[in-house]
Amino acid sequence: MRDSELDELLTTARRAARAGARVALDWRAHADRLLVEEKAGPADLVSQADRETETAIRAVLAAHRPGDGVLGEEHGALDGRSGVRWLVDPIDGTTSYLYGRSDWAVSVAACDAAGGRLLAGVVVEPELDRMTEARRGGGTRTRGAPVAVLEQDDLARTLVEVNLGRPEQRPRAAAMVGALASRVRDLRRGGSAAAALANVATARADAAWLPGLQPWDCAAGVLLVLEAGGVVGDLDGRHEGTWPRSGDVLAASKGLFEPLRGLLSPAYGNHPLRPDAVTDWVK
Ligand code: IPD
Ligand code: CA
Ligand code: CA
Repeated sequence: MRDSELDELLTTARRAARAGARVALDWRAHADRLLVEEKAGPADLVSQADRETETAIRAVLAAHRPGDGVLGEEHGALDGRSGVRWLVDPIDGTTSYLYGRSDWAVSVAACDAAGGRLLAGVVVEPELDRMTEARRGGGTRTRGAPVAVLEQDDLARTLVEVNLGRPEQRPRAAAMVGALASRVRDLRRGGSAAAALANVATARADAAWLPGLQPWDCAAGVLLVLEAGGVVGDLDGRHEGTWPRSGDVLAASKGLFEPLRGLLSPAYGNHPLRPDAVTDWVK
């Protein structure tokens, strides 16, 4: 794909994410009226704000890229014919959003529909008025300025973003924290995986370990890290140009990726992180 086409995808991603952010922020002003439901259980929330935000994002994608496929968390999959597929998380960090916290994000990414190679991605953190964006081969920018991952290679000086994983992964969270806590500078658990990856890309964290993600959670954030000079993969190793299909995302500078993989792997022992739960995103 030519650079001009990649630029066009990024422009559309930006428009779509901005439209979504407006809807989500508008709903915050009337949050007491939101109907909140539990999806898979008490840790998996959804509201009208999530659904209407995704509707707004998809309207922009349909207007500017009518032939593309879309996979969104709340409204599912739409087949395309162009070879491009969008991955949309309208509100990543719904729990934080519903509690009135600032750590949630809107995530929009375009990838190659056949192989999942990431083409363009935007993460907006609306409460912080911050947009971080990248397209393949073009570097990462936040609020319009180029950014790069921190070139840290000393574990003891590493700030690591973590999450706890899907329900069946959570029993390993104590071992994971135990493995990291005494070896790194500190840990952070924010409410949004997309924002955690944006933090790595923009030097607001050194690394992120985010098990149990779906493609819409991580696609845009993974591209932000890769284009900012970072490395992304899972506990089996590095992945080039795309997110790990396991959904267990390790993102770091080149010097930290292997040391962190070595620290984390024993914490999960023989417990497969990812049985069969990965979304079949390629239809
Ligand atoms: C969740 C957030 C959270 C992560 C979960 C995700 P959602 O997304 O990214 O930080 O720990 O795995 O499901 O449900 O708020 O869109
Ligand atoms: Ca999410
Ligand atoms: Ca979501």
